[in-house]
Order: sequence, then structure tokens, then C-alpha cells
Amino acid sequence: MPLTDEELLARAERAAGSAYAPYSNFNVGAALLLRNGDVVTGVNVENASYPLGMCAERCALARAVAEGARPGGVEALAVTASPCGGCRQWLLEFGVDRIAFMHDGELRVRAPADLLPDSFIL
Ligand code: THU
Repeated sequence: MPLTDEELLARAERAAGSAYAPYSNFNVGAALLLRNGDVVTGVNVENASYPLGMCAERCALARAVAEGARPGGVEALAVTASPCGGCRQWLLEFGVDRIAFMHDGELRVRAPADLLPDSFIL
């Protein structure tokens, strides 16, 4: 049985416990569902040089790429925060089918193009 978006979000919530966010104290977790059924998690990783911090979504995508994933290979991503603009651009590049996140107390499931309309692509 494939994971539901709620189950994927639960994996993201569990991952958030490993976040390294000593500056914002805002822990974020993400969980990617690859087309082969594997789940790859990510967390935000902050740095004393603040702009160098890494978002949870990009951490998860980078981990998946290091394991061989490529655009088109990601079915879904769940994240414990509404994705920032930069992460929306990354999610668009990887052709993720759907992105699930809590917003205004509701589970939102969106396509990348809905999160980033009229977007820049090459
Ligand atoms: N953050 C994420 O990890 N993902 C997002 O899409 C939004 C923001 C992190 C970055 C920073 O470590 C903290 O949340 C506060 O902005």
C-alpha cells in the first residue's frame, strides 16, 4: 500500500525532531516519497552565518539526489511548514507531483505550478 499524504506528513513531523535550528528555534521536517516507494527525510540546518542555513525541503531533495534521484523521480513531498519561495523553485525543478503541508490548520495538497505560477524554467 502506498503511503498516504497524512502518513508522509507524519514522517516529516518525526524528522523535525532532528532539525538543527538553534537560531530560529523553528524546527522543520520534510519527507519525500520517491517513485520506488522509498522515503527520504530532511530537516532545516541553520548556521551562525544565517544566510547559509538550509531548508528542510532542499535537505531532503539533496539527500535524494545523492542517492540517484533525478527530476521526475519524486512523487510527493510533505513538509511541516509552508514551503518558502526558494524551495518552491526547487520543487518545481524536480517535477514533484504534489506537495502536502499544513496551512491555516488544514492539510493543503498542491502541485508545484500552483505554488509558483508563471515560473522561471530553462
Ligand atoms: N524553513 C524551512 O526549513 N523550510 C521552509 O520552507 C521555510 C523555512 C526553515 C529555515 C529556517 O531554518 C527556519 O525555517 C526559519 O525560517
